[in-house]
Amino acid sequence: MSIDLHAIEVRPAQLEDVPTLCAFFNELIRIGGTTAHETPFTLERFSTHFLDGPACVNCFVALDAGGRPCAFQGLERHDGLPAEWVDIGTFARPENKVSGAGTALFTASRVLAREKGFLAINATIRADNVGGLAYYSKMGFTDYKVDKAAPLKDGRLVDRISKRYLL
Ligand SMILES: CC(C)(COP(=O)(O)OP(=O)(O)OC[C@H]1O[C@@H](n2cnc3c(N)ncnc32)[C@H](O)[C@@H]1OP(=O)(O)O)[C@@H](O)C(=O)NCCC(=O)NCCS
Repeated sequence: MSIDLHAIEVRPAQLEDVPTLCAFFNELIRIGGTTAHETPFTLERFSTHFLDGPACVNCFVALDAGGRPCAFQGLERHDGLPAEWVDIGTFARPENKVSGAGTALFTASRVLAREKGFLAINATIRADNVGGLAYYSKMGFTDYKVDKAAPLKDGRLVDRISKRYLL
């Protein structure tokens, strides 16, 4: 028998979360190697990209034991995907990580995506992002496409692996 002592609260992101979420998203960009984004986001760009822009479908945050957002997961429509598919991005703060935050977020997001009538969730991940690839595989995503040698700003070429989760 297992007893869950660490249920992680998940709720929709709110505008007042933006400074916290944008700060750790920009820290992940600064560290490099995970997100495909390479330029820091302003608060305004962050809001448009993840919370209230025309492509946004949903953004959940996971809270740490003190009630502070420690990870978020966005669902957005993407021109390159079939209309019934939604794209996903997941970002956890790099310091004082809360183990299980990504799992709690996906539990909520996949229910919401299904309720909204989507048929599949797409995750496109840099081939050098071992943690990101492992996370989506653990959530049940399977590989279906590789875009070879997508260039980074510094000219390095990195494959992009697309995984899908059928709802
Ligand atoms: C990928 C990420 C969102 C995972 O979030 P998380 O809160 O660490 O996820 P969880 O703690 O719920 O982990 C779930 C499972 O994912 C896998 N996993 C997560 N991070 C991993 C890592 N760095 N290496 C290997 N496996 C990893 C494990 O199988 C883990 O299960 P386990 O703890 O039972 O072993 C987080 O590490 C992150 O923000 N990374 C940087 C940004 C990024 O790469 N995002 C993905 C591309 S959009």
